[in-house]
This record gives sequence, C-alpha cells and structure tokens, in this order.
Amino acid sequence: MKTFTIDGFARGCKAAMNKGDNRTLAAKQFLEQTLRDHDLEAIIEVLQVALPPGASIGEMIVHASEELTMLFARVPPRFQSGIHNHTVFACICQLRGEEVSTIFEPAEAGRGLEVTHTLTSRAGEVVDLPADVIHCIENPREDYSLSLHIYGGDFGALMDKRSLWSTNGHEEMAFNFQELLAESVKTMKKNGNNKGLEALVEAIPSAKDLVECL
Ligand SMILES: [Fe+2]
Repeated sequence: MKTFTIDGFARGCKAAMNKGDNRTLAAKQFLEQTLRDHDLEAIIEVLQVALPPGASIGEMIVHASEELTMLFARVPPRFQSGIHNHTVFACICQLRGEEVSTIFEPAEAGRGLEVTHTLTSRAGEVVDLPADVIHCIENPREDYSLSLHIYGGDFGALMDKRSLWSTNGHEEMAFNFQELLAESVKTMKKNGNNKGLEALVEAIPSAKDLVECL
C-alpha cells in the first residue's frame, strides 16, 4: 500500500486531468486507482488531520486551486441536503459508509425540477457527476458517510455562479452555504426525518436555531 498525501493526490490528479481528453473520466480513473493503491482508513486519517479547525459544512476543503478542489465530506447519519449545482464536474470517492445522490433536471412543463435517477456510492467506489448536474445528497445509513469529493475547479471562485433550489416549489436562488443548510433542514423537516435533524445539530450545533425556527 502506498502512503496517501493531499499534495501528492492533487498533483497526480491534475496531471491525469491534463493528459486525458476527458477531464472527468481522467479524474474518476485517478480516484479509482488511488482507492486500489491505498488503505481507505489511512486516507480518512490524512483528510481528518488536514481539516481547518472548527470547519463547518462547506468548509471541509483540504485543497483548493484553479483546477481542483478537494473536500472531505463527513455527512451525518440520515442527513439530507438541499438541491444544488456545482457548475464544474464532481467525483464522489466513498471511503466509509454510503452516499446517495438524487439527480434532477428542469421539468418539461417549464417550472421546477423533476427527479431523473439516483446514484449510490459505497466504500471503495467513485461516482462522477457532470458539470451541469443538479442534485441533492443523502446519507441513508445510521453511521457517518465519509468521502472525498473532488470538483474540477476552484470552489471559492465559483460560489457566485452556483444555484440552490428551494425544497418547497423548486425556486432557483443564489447559492451560499448558510442557505444550503437552511434548505437541508427544510428537506428533513418535510420528510419527517428527525434522526437526520438530530444528527445535524450534533455535528453543527449552530444549526439548532434553524431546526427550531424553520
Ligand atoms: Fe453537491
């Protein structure tokens, strides 16, 4: 088994993306090779140590550059997110547990969104999402989902290009992490998902106000 480092991964992934004709596929294949070459729990340990202290949702970024953002996603048990886009391709590299993406597209009737399909990533698997994807994520299990999310661009620079869709009515709005959190709470409330709400407050105590007020 090789030793995983964030700098080594970022360098290798960028080189692979620049070599291939298809950057998404090149990144996905590089991630799959990374999973074969490393112990998954050892990757988790490296990502854990690299997190900024006190990092909240959306702040779990362990590497950001013009071509690549790496985010360590620690999704609480039963958590369900609001609907959002990225504007660049993404790959979900599952390290522990399971993450389900529900994919949407604009409704034919012209307003709102329709679900097209779901994609599930399990430990040791990589799911790729195209740049125009609209999705929400869910942890269907009772334990944490841990994954490395990579995005084919600089998340910070993309922020004002991204959108969020309301849980009720699917109205498109400007993206920010606080609103994503609010829409996630609304989604879990709508679904009567108390376990997800409790796990969210445990992970992010400041979300308690949202859970009580929304
Ligand atoms: Fe996403």
